Amino acid sequence: MRYAQKSPLPPFTRGNYLHHFMKLPISPASNIKGTLTVPGDKSISHRAAIFGALASGETKITNFLHAADTDSTLKVLRQLGATITEQADGTVSVQGCAGQFNAPQEALFCGNSGTSMRLMLGVLAGYEFKSTFSGDESLSRRPMDRVSVPLTEMGAQISGQGERCLPPVTLQGGNLRGVCYALPVASAQVKSAILLAGLRAEGQTAVIEKTPSRDHTEQMLQGFGATLDIKVLFDGGREIIINGGQQLRAADVNVPGDISSAAFFFAAAALRPGWQVTVQNVGINPTRSGILEVLEEMGAKVLLDNQRQSGGEQVADVTVIGAPLRGVEIGGSLIPRLIDELPVLAALATQAEGETVIRDAHELRVKESDRIEIISRELRKMGADIEEREDGMIVRGPLQLKGAEVTSPPGDHRIAMTLAVAALAADGDTILQNAEAIQSSFPNFMEVLDSVAKRK
Ligand code: S3P
Repeated sequence: MRYAQKSPLPPFTRGNYLHHFMKLPISPASNIKGTLTVPGDKSISHRAAIFGALASGETKITNFLHAADTDSTLKVLRQLGATITEQADGTVSVQGCAGQFNAPQEALFCGNSGTSMRLMLGVLAGYEFKSTFSGDESLSRRPMDRVSVPLTEMGAQISGQGERCLPPVTLQGGNLRGVCYALPVASAQVKSAILLAGLRAEGQTAVIEKTPSRDHTEQMLQGFGATLDIKVLFDGGREIIINGGQQLRAADVNVPGDISSAAFFFAAAALRPGWQVTVQNVGINPTRSGILEVLEEMGAKVLLDNQRQSGGEQVADVTVIGAPLRGVEIGGSLIPRLIDELPVLAALATQAEGETVIRDAHELRVKESDRIEIISRELRKMGADIEEREDGMIVRGPLQLKGAEVTSPPGDHRIAMTLAVAALAADGDTILQNAEAIQSSFPNFMEVLDSVAKRK
């Protein structure tokens, strides 16, 4: 079989073979066993670079994620005047601009990365210049009204395409005033955009979230010297208050392994009784670790070793051992704690006894693709029994999956990796179209998978 080759290669493709393939053949596994590490956390890497660029002094970021999405953030920050150098061992040094960004000469292209666009809209809302944000085809379909509405309330002028303010988006920032904003959907990206705008706003900015979302921004802002007031509300929600006019100070950040990347290996091990992986140095921040609870509830064994604190984040070596699985219900406040892991949990649920119900996950429809529609459609091609719901899916199992030709949207890394995991449990080879989407967050995913998967 011949595969079409892609070019030119961005720098992070060195040492991985994904770029060789638009169609990647994946054989089923007879065993999954081994110890591995995954690349640095994507959410934390974006934030470390952004906060470093805003701060005064030099920020050193170790275990920074080198992938397409975080590369987009670095490019945007360089356009604004930050000096960023990358060492051979992957460490990133950011020479901060001490709050002084230059007006960009060209559009700020954020590629596939919603986090880059939403967080940087929040940052630049406080600067008195005009900027334009653009993205790839997938990002150009993602709603920016969720950030343009609160940032407009704070005094920024933002316009995008259509009612949902799709990219390209134009921003005229400056002269912000603090607001109190209750998030209509649980979103760490929106929360972060408002808090970052609040840093340069006059007075106090408060964000209220009914369901807590990942709190890396809150943790790291404090690590960079900002003062925040975080209140736990009676209904389990949070109110985060920031005072305007605070200047960040450089801080070194050691990025933990990304639990959202580790999730593909946890799910792979959980596919069959006795399969086992240990992922070392994984971030297990409680606002991100919902997947571990669900795996245990499904019947897999989850062990945490060497638990420690690293740079304000909880880290552990996580072992998952496969065991007979049962269907579970996933919904409510658990959803933001595993939002990015739902596609791979849906794939795993095809191997569980009974029904797995995923609800309250409407947000999945506005990720890099409509993940409810796409994952249901593609897993069905492999023989899965999945019913699509407006806010989730119902998966019935266990069923023997069969190898098939499946297609990831070119702009959705997590769908591509989910299908690669499903292929491990299939009868016969699977051909994965658009595998290069994986470059967004985990360029060496296939090599790591090959290192723990014994093929039939
Ligand atoms: C992210 C937050 C989540 C998540 C995304 C990364 C972040 O999105 O899905 O992959 O780094 O803040 P939302 O905040 O839109 O839910």
